[in-house]
Amino acid sequence: MNIILLGPPGAGKGTQAARLEAERGMVQLSTGDMLRAAVKAGTPVGAQAKAVMAAGGLVSDAIVSALIGENLDAMTAGQGAIFDGFPRTAAQADALDLLLAERGRRLDRVIELEVDEDALVERVVGRFTCANCGAGYHDRFKRPVADGTCDVCGAHEFKRRPDDNEATVRTRMAVYRAETAPILPGYEARGLVRRVDGMAEIAEVTVAIEAVLGE
Ligand code: AP5
Ligand code: MG
Repeated sequence: MNIILLGPPGAGKGTQAARLEAERGMVQLSTGDMLRAAVKAGTPVGAQAKAVMAAGGLVSDAIVSALIGENLDAMTAGQGAIFDGFPRTAAQADALDLLLAERGRRLDRVIELEVDEDALVERVVGRFTCANCGAGYHDRFKRPVADGTCDVCGAHEFKRRPDDNEATVRTRMAVYRAETAPILPGYEARGLVRRVDGMAEIAEVTVAIEAVLGE
């Protein structure tokens, strides 16, 4: 199956994609993660993306669509893709249809995580990850079992995203409403959209998504 996880910043796209990847052998394709890797590596794409991301704006459709194409090509035919943070504009939605068709794939589901935006600000501002393995944590909702030690790899260094401050999060949410939410009706018309309560506990959200995938 190839699915899109759709929702504003902090909706839990990355959290749920990682869980589906672990449980179902699907592959998470997060354009945000790809762009952060490009910024870190200092590639030309990273140089173009860095300031845009820090301001909460959108990187060009051509750049993110190319990244998705490259990552799809690295997958085996039997692996399903979880699109996390892509598509984000009408042009990207069209590009995805083409990228999938060119590879003999099709889109099976669009899962919209329904959330309360004010609660999301707290989620995003409190988020941090292991600097070594990337495992995700939260100041209030998901602390490491032993303070200061990653549950997964045992490392002691953690990091926070530069765009996870309240002002930038509000900008990212406004961009979501203006550019991304309008792609939903098109998927709705194709009968692909299912809605899941993204305000439930992390594990409950996974159960709800699994139910949709098992339909
Ligand atoms: P991106 O990395 O995609 O960021 P985003 O869409 O703003 O989403 P987030 O990653 O912030 O949230 P999430 O939904 O993954 O939530 P998470 O699971 O971490 O994009 C970053 C930037 O890159 C963009 O602003 C743009 O500049 C650029 N970009 C990326 N893709 C692009 C594209 N296609 N086109 C153009 N530009 C692009 O959860 C958040 C926190 O909440 C975590 O701490 C988690 O532990 C916690 N949490 C999760 N679920 C729950 C729950 N159910 N209950 C309680 N806590 C929870
Ligand atoms: Mg994410």
